[in-house]
Order: sequence, then C-alpha cells, then structure tokens
Amino acid sequence: MQITFAKAVLPQDGCVVFLIAEGAKITGILSALNKKSKGHVSRAMKAGQFKGDSGQYIGLVAPSGTRLSKVILYGVGKKPENLSSKAFEEIGGRLSARLAADGVKAATVLVEPVKGSALTEQEAAAALGLGALLRSYRFHLYKTKGKGAFKPSLSKLTIATGDPAAARKLFRPLHQIADGVFVTRNLVSEPANILFPGEFANRAKHLTELGVKVEILGEKQMKELGMGALLGVGQGSAHESKLVTMVWNGAKDPKARPVAFVGKGVTFDTGGISIKPAAGMEQMKWDMGGAGAVMGLMHALAARKAKTNVVGVIGLVENMPSSTAQRPGDVVTSLSGQTIEVINTDAEGRLVLADALWYTQDTFKPQLIIDLATLTGAILVSLGQEYAGLFSNNDELADRLLAAGDSVGEKLWRMPMGPVFDKMINSQIADMKNVGGRYAGSTTAAQFLKRFIRNVPWAHLDIAGMAWSEKDRPTVPKGGAGYGVRLLDRLIADYYED
Ligand code: BES
Ligand code: MN
Ligand code: ZN
Repeated sequence: MQITFAKAVLPQDGCVVFLIAEGAKITGILSALNKKSKGHVSRAMKAGQFKGDSGQYIGLVAPSGTRLSKVILYGVGKKPENLSSKAFEEIGGRLSARLAADGVKAATVLVEPVKGSALTEQEAAAALGLGALLRSYRFHLYKTKGKGAFKPSLSKLTIATGDPAAARKLFRPLHQIADGVFVTRNLVSEPANILFPGEFANRAKHLTELGVKVEILGEKQMKELGMGALLGVGQGSAHESKLVTMVWNGAKDPKARPVAFVGKGVTFDTGGISIKPAAGMEQMKWDMGGAGAVMGLMHALAARKAKTNVVGVIGLVENMPSSTAQRPGDVVTSLSGQTIEVINTDAEGRLVLADALWYTQDTFKPQLIIDLATLTGAILVSLGQEYAGLFSNNDELADRLLAAGDSVGEKLWRMPMGPVFDKMINSQIADMKNVGGRYAGSTTAAQFLKRFIRNVPWAHLDIAGMAWSEKDRPTVPKGGAGYGVRLLDRLIADYYED
C-alpha cells in the first residue's frame, strides 16, 4: 500500500475519512463540510448514534453539495489527550482493514479532528501511516489464481495534516522499519522446502546492498571451529547447516563494542528422532522466527542508518529424522568445550543457540547480547499469544526491553531464573542435558542458554507464542507476525545510539 501525506484541506473528490474522538465533536474542516452538505454530517451522526466509540464507522455516500464519493466518520474511542503513538498505529491498522473490507481503493484521512494528543499532528500522522502499512501486508507468493483477491483493495492512503513535509520526514524511518518487519514476515511465511538453511543464508546476503557485512559459515568451517552442538542438530538433514553473521557499523567509533542479536533458525523442526506428532507439525516451518527477526532487524537498522554498532548471528539448521540423525542419549561437545547429553532431539533450539551464542561472544565481544527463539511450547502455556517470555541476567537490560515492548506493542513478560532451575539440567554423564523434566520448561531452557553466557548482560526472548499470529490484530494480519523487529529497533533507538 502506498502511504502519502497531503495538506489538511477537504479533497475535491474521492473518499475522505474523519477520525472522531470520544464525544464526537464537529469542528474545523468537518464543520465546513457539514455546512456545505446542509447538515448531512450532523444528522447522520445523530441518526447513527455516533459517539466516537472505537471502530464506530459511518459511511455517507456522495453527500450533496460536494463531489466526494464517500465521507467516513471513524471513531477512535478515546479522548485526544489519551492517544499515544501506539494508539495511532492501531487506529491506522484498524481503519485500513475496515476500508479494505468496504472495497475502498483510495482514501484521504484527516487527522485534524483528533488534534490535542501528547503527539504533534505530524507524529500522529506518521504513526497512523505505519499502522496502516503494517496491517496491509499479505503473503501470496504461491497463489496462482485470483491474485487480486489476496491483495488489500485499499491501495492508496493519503494522510492529511498541517505540515505534510514534516510528517513525510517522520514517516521515512518508520517505513524502513516496516520494511524490516516485512523481511521477517516473508521469511517466516515461506515453506521449508523453499527456505532451507542455504536459501536463508542467500537471502541474508542481500543485506550487503544496505551496507551490512555478511559472512556465511558452512559445515566444514563450523566443524573446524568445534560447533558440535549446532552440527548435531543438522546432521540428519540433506541440507547443509549454516551460520550467518551480519555486521552493521553505524556508530561514530567503528570499534565501539556492538550490541549482539542471536537468532534460532530451525528452518523445519520435525523433532528429529524424538519426532513430533503429525497434527500441527506444519507450523514448524516458522521455527526460524528468531533468526527471521534478527535479519529483519538488521534490515531496519541498516536502512535507517542507525548510529550504532550491531551484529546479528543466526544459526540455520533443519531438524530431521534419518539414519544420520543424532539419537537420544548422544553426547555432543559444544564450541564452549562443555558437553551435552541430548536426551530429547526435539529440544534442538538450545543446542543451536549454545554454539551461536558462544561464537558471538568470542568473535565480537559485544557489550550485551540478546537472543530470540521459538524455543518452547511451554511459553505458550505460560503466556499464550500475548507476551513473549523474557529471561535475563541483568535488571537494567530487562527493564529497557520491557519499556521498549510497551511502547511498540510487542509485549514481554519477565520470567524467573535461578540455581534451583539450573540444577534440573545436570546430567549424570556429561556437563548438562538438554531437557530438564516436566516442569518449568521455558525456564530450564533459559538456564541451559545461560550456561553459554559469559560475564555480559544477556536477555533471552522466547517468542514461540508470538512469531505467528493466529488472528488478525490491529497492525498484524493473521500469519507471520514479524515480532521482535520493532521491539529491538526501539530498544536500540532509545538506549544505544550515538
Ligand atoms: N520449536 C519447538 C518449540 C515450539 C513449540 C515453537 C510450539 C513454536 C510452537 C522446540 O524446538 C521444541 O520442540 N521444544 C520442546 C522442548 C521439549 C522437548 C523439552 C517443546 O516445547 O515441547
Ligand atoms: Mn523442537
Ligand atoms: Zn524447535
């Protein structure tokens, strides 16, 4: 969808939308239109009991006295002073979906009637544009018939505001962030026969066009390095495992210690020899959601030229059962030197991350490290599809992540860790085992990762409940959600840029 900004005047023709706050006052341009149409607007509001409730929608067709095709009154459900940027994003998302459902192809939205929030009108306009854009995403690469039906019918949204040039300028980085979210959604949506580790790595190479340095390690190199944990997971697959590093140096000091992001990239998780049940297994194509988020984030940061040094590292493997697959009971030696007894081959994400985390610390000496992974089904039991699980060894980092999540609407909930959980993964014959028993499954997984963290602030985000959305949300259509990109972009913008 094309988002443009224009001057706050009543358009001559076409479809125009007025956002109306709680209390539904007719002022400014809307009041002029009301006069022109001899009270059509006020009569319609009265007849339709329009109070400006959230999502309330009245469409006036071809009001007389004008050449407009449609005038839409759209309730935002809040007083202007209570509208945050998140609220404007959600309004933009909901409105664009409503317009699309109504068959509207192009519309102009006037922000003026809800002026008076803590944001400037331009900030509100830009946030509205971001929400609309994010909601308009579709993945229809494999539809060979009736393509049009899968595109949102709304193809152009013009946002009318006092200073369109200023709004355009604010929207630019938001658009770049949305592009990053779309990179992630595209990756997450791809089927696993198309997106295997090598193909994922190839797509990462495109980041070089934005100035990101991309390096790809294959199995031979990883074997020489000693990444026995990661390689064990991929050894049953016909596809070669890969480790991709992406480096963005945007800080004034190119040697400043980077912020590191590490992603689980299991392009398909059958469970391996500890095979998963058939029902729902197709969902395991998005078991690379952590890696997808890291790549989308690198896209966003590089595109908007973030003034910071960042590295992204993703471990890419396919977890398959075969005669070469690893067995339950196998012992592998990780890059850190620590040995792991693989009790359950379906607890594979932590094995991939163990080596990716160690490699990242060794190679880049980051100032802090954050990993994202669709790691446990247990986090869905705990937090459903509303919060990602946050595990951290550092309160300051955890609080910053919680704040960033709140402001962009990608919510996190901090989960407990501690020695009592750590001892649940002690093994009889190796340094540790890869599962901790029936209880506290998300925490024991996090404790496992912590054994591969040296003395550095670290956070682990378990996004198993967030990478895929089973329903439409205001700014996330059903499907690959792109969770994590906006959260971590905001974390960087608020705390780690020059
Ligand atoms: N990829 C899964 C976790 C998952 C489950 C992600 C549902 C998204 C939706 C992970 O590799 C896994 O299989 N975890 C096991 C761990 C268990 C064997 C200790 C799980 O959660 O059952
Ligand atoms: Mn698994
Ligand atoms: Zn998995």
